[in-house]
Amino acid sequence: MAIVSMNSLLRQAQQHRYMVGYFESWNLESLLAVVDAAEHTRSPVIIGFNGGFLDNPERSVKENIYHYGALGITVAREAGIPICLLMNEAAHPSTLLRAIQAGFNAIMYAGSHDTPEELLETTRYLVRTAHACSVAVEAEAGTLPWADGHGGLAENGRATDPDEASAFVKETSVDALAVSVGNVHVLEGSTVSLDWELLAHIHRKVSVPLVLHGGTGIDRHALREAAGYGVAKVNVGTLLKRACLDSWSEIFRTPGRLEDDPHALLGGGGKQDMNRLARERMAEKVANFMEDLGSTGKA
Ligand code: 13P
Repeated sequence: MAIVSMNSLLRQAQQHRYMVGYFESWNLESLLAVVDAAEHTRSPVIIGFNGGFLDNPERSVKENIYHYGALGITVAREAGIPICLLMNEAAHPSTLLRAIQAGFNAIMYAGSHDTPEELLETTRYLVRTAHACSVAVEAEAGTLPWADGHGGLAENGRATDPDEASAFVKETSVDALAVSVGNVHVLEGSTVSLDWELLAHIHRKVSVPLVLHGGTGIDRHALREAAGYGVAKVNVGTLLKRACLDSWSEIFRTPGRLEDDPHALLGGGGKQDMNRLARERMAEKVANFMEDLGSTGKA
């Protein structure tokens, strides 16, 4: 199937009151796990990679965005469900320009450290460029807090101001807007509930589909309600990495398993294969999440 535009996926979702998941990958297995889940549940889905991680200055080997673009496009074309390919949260506009060249059809700039003027200027520039190439642009108004992994916060966020958000969308023409309404990035071990009053206020003011980042830590029972408040996309990342690590940990803790035939453990694809197990476990988690988004059966 051809790659589908983010706008059409989100428009459909809004019309039929469900949300599309963006499940963030970092390698082949995690990407295939997302597509396995989407095909299994017949869900439209947004696949992709994180520009901040790919561009991380601590990387000892520089990543090539074109490899990731080729991977995403090929996987999307071979899949039997509608897929959009997103380069998420890149801190450098140049990463996003390369992503567009590499075939990503949606981008998001992470400009939380910019001044409001810088953010406006960079976003306008990216929207002009991306729209000329039929690529959608997501932006963020306000910033999400970051969990520190020990029950506290590593960074405080700033809740989205509805008037600011509305002005920002009008001045930039972005296609979707991520909002900070109680959601927290990389939160594990507990969940947060959303500030519904604030979300409703933003929804009244902002015309484009809203996006919730920090999907892993959002209370899943309440999540489905968000579709009624203009939310059409939910970003999920940590959930997949934890599922992958848990599956490997199960193997590492089984006495003697690592001494087994290396080809059975890696690459064989059979019962003992670590990456096969990780792919299955990630796909299960993603499929469950799709149920809560209401995207199951909507492909
Ligand atoms: P989580 O890792 O908290 O699910 O958030 C992912 C995310 O928002 C990526 O943009």
